[in-house]
Amino acid sequence: MKLLSPFKLGPMELSNSMAMSALTRCRALEGNVPNPLAVTYYSQRASAGLIITEATQVTPMGQGYPNTPGIYSDEQVQGWKKITDSVHQAGGKIFLQLWHVGRVSLPDYHDGNLPVAPSALPMSGHLHTPRFEQKDVVTPRALELSEIPQVVAQFKKGAENAMAAGFDGVEVHGANGYLLEQFTESGSNHRTDAYGGSLENRLRFPLEVVDAVISVWGADRVGYRISPYFDGYAMSDANPVETYTHLTEELDKRKLAYLCVKEGPAVPKNAAALTPILRKIFHQAYMVNMAFTAETGEAILENGGADLVCYGRLFLANPDLPERFKQKTSLNQPDPATFYGGGEKGYTDYPKLG
Ligand SMILES: Cc1cc2nc3c(=O)[nH]c(=O)nc-3n(C[C@H](O)[C@H](O)[C@H](O)COP(=O)(O)O)c2cc1C
Repeated sequence: MKLLSPFKLGPMELSNSMAMSALTRCRALEGNVPNPLAVTYYSQRASAGLIITEATQVTPMGQGYPNTPGIYSDEQVQGWKKITDSVHQAGGKIFLQLWHVGRVSLPDYHDGNLPVAPSALPMSGHLHTPRFEQKDVVTPRALELSEIPQVVAQFKKGAENAMAAGFDGVEVHGANGYLLEQFTESGSNHRTDAYGGSLENRLRFPLEVVDAVISVWGADRVGYRISPYFDGYAMSDANPVETYTHLTEELDKRKLAYLCVKEGPAVPKNAAALTPILRKIFHQAYMVNMAFTAETGEAILENGGADLVCYGRLFLANPDLPERFKQKTSLNQPDPATFYGGGEKGYTDYPKLG
């Protein structure tokens, strides 16, 4: 099986071609320090060729959900260090997903101050407060031009802290409606300065973040995640093919270790599927995600459509997913009621094969 074949990712040898997708679990402790249970949770899944951690904010302003871990304090670094040590002891490789939610947040997370975004555009919907209560979203505040370098520096510091915490590399979260995607897409970026307007300007901030992170890790230990047709959190782009083609060209120039494309299963009507288009542009490892099974994952590797397949919910519920694919056994079903928050239940108690 190609899924079970080793893969060379930058300088690393992955034991197979399956990645565990980033999965927010909202179980961090006071101070946004990783829960000690996460040591068990991640090391149980160390047979993934590569684990990508849950999204991890690089600054308190980057938080928008309850109990998500951070990578800006010493305590957080110490918490992550226990996780990376344990995953390495179990023979795994682990990247940290660097995150800033931008406007997908509430004043409740910021002492009553507004969340930040490229532009002060109203949104609709609701989010959870730190106490898991639902509240309507607010119109964010546009970042001042002078603040943007500080946010880039926060990503750089997050990358440095990830290195101190013993990770093998980092994934820059450019997907799912968060800050980097808010800058990238025309629907959420109406700035008239050097960070908005033209496509080149909209990509300026995400690429400055990438360059800052590369300066810490080297390009061959940095991945980037996109979700071109994600339309939650009021996201939209006037020309996704142009936007993501150009972004991918820029990431390719920088020789990033991998690009993770989260697309489908439904591509909008009359729109071109971007996965095959971007595959031709990006020359390093190409990772695909969204509702893949053993069969569809194997098929896309076989036909050359991707190099790596990233599994989210299947890894959440099946700590030994590669072994289950190998043995063609039945799979545990993920329980959405325990995705976010809580303790061991639905976290560290999914059984491995006996
Ligand atoms: C509980 C849960 C938490 C998630 N958290 C993140 C996250 O922190 N970062 C991210 O990029 N995607 C996140 N996602 C999206 C997954 O990484 C993945 O893209 C999605 O589940 C589709 O893949 P799948 O069909 O294999 O599950 C999350 C998905 C779920 C179900």
